Amino acid sequence: MSIYGPYEDTLNAILIDVKQRIEELNNRQVVANQPKLYEHLIGRVKTPTSMVEKCHRKNYPVTTEAALRQCRDAIGLRIVCNFVSDISRCLKLVRQADWCTVVKEKDYITNAKPNGYRSYHLILDVVEPYQDVDGHLPGHFFVEIQLRTIAMDSWASLEHEIKYKHHVKDPERISKELKRCADQLASCDVQMQTIRQLVQEGESE
Ligand code: GTP
Ligand code: MG
Repeated sequence: MSIYGPYEDTLNAILIDVKQRIEELNNRQVVANQPKLYEHLIGRVKTPTSMVEKCHRKNYPVTTEAALRQCRDAIGLRIVCNFVSDISRCLKLVRQADWCTVVKEKDYITNAKPNGYRSYHLILDVVEPYQDVDGHLPGHFFVEIQLRTIAMDSWASLEHEIKYKHHVKDPERISKELKRCADQLASCDVQMQTIRQLVQEGESE
């Protein structure tokens, strides 16, 4: 049995459900003639191996309870938006949604990490028709949502790949270049936002 015990199928079912709910939020925008909320949406259940590694790293016991309660990213979704303003639109709709409660927010967009990482992180508490680790039915489950632009996403993907290459020659140089790249991409996001605004102003005339 994996660290998720009997919850493996449940976690996958909840991932599908929450993904559908976010797709519905987007569909409603499109039906109302608003721009789409995001460019793409991906989700995953953290692999049992990564979850065991995380419990070790955080000094949590390697138990199903720790995996589902102390760690809150067993279920994760990433909403990748075209524009920074779309992140705010998504945030507003998720905060208003009746199917979840936002229990934690981390704004790494206003306050980028020192390495240049940008994203807006939410931890949701969703109520689902499955028993949870506390024995409640319907149960409470945590879901991590990462909201970012395509530019932020491309940077995170590159940085993630480099982070695991341990034998690089000049790590300080690489960190410095990565940070510079993150800041340039953030500046592009601001420029793209300006372009969108100009286009929208033209449309409403
Ligand atoms: P974890 O223990 O990794 O879950 O971190 P945390 O609980 O302190 O939360 P945090 O919000 O900092 O990060 C959660 C997730 O955001 C990570 O699992 C990554 O997917 C992503 N993330 C955070 N920081 C970075 C970063 O510097 N680079 C990249 N590529 N991703 C990051
Ligand atoms: Mg995480």
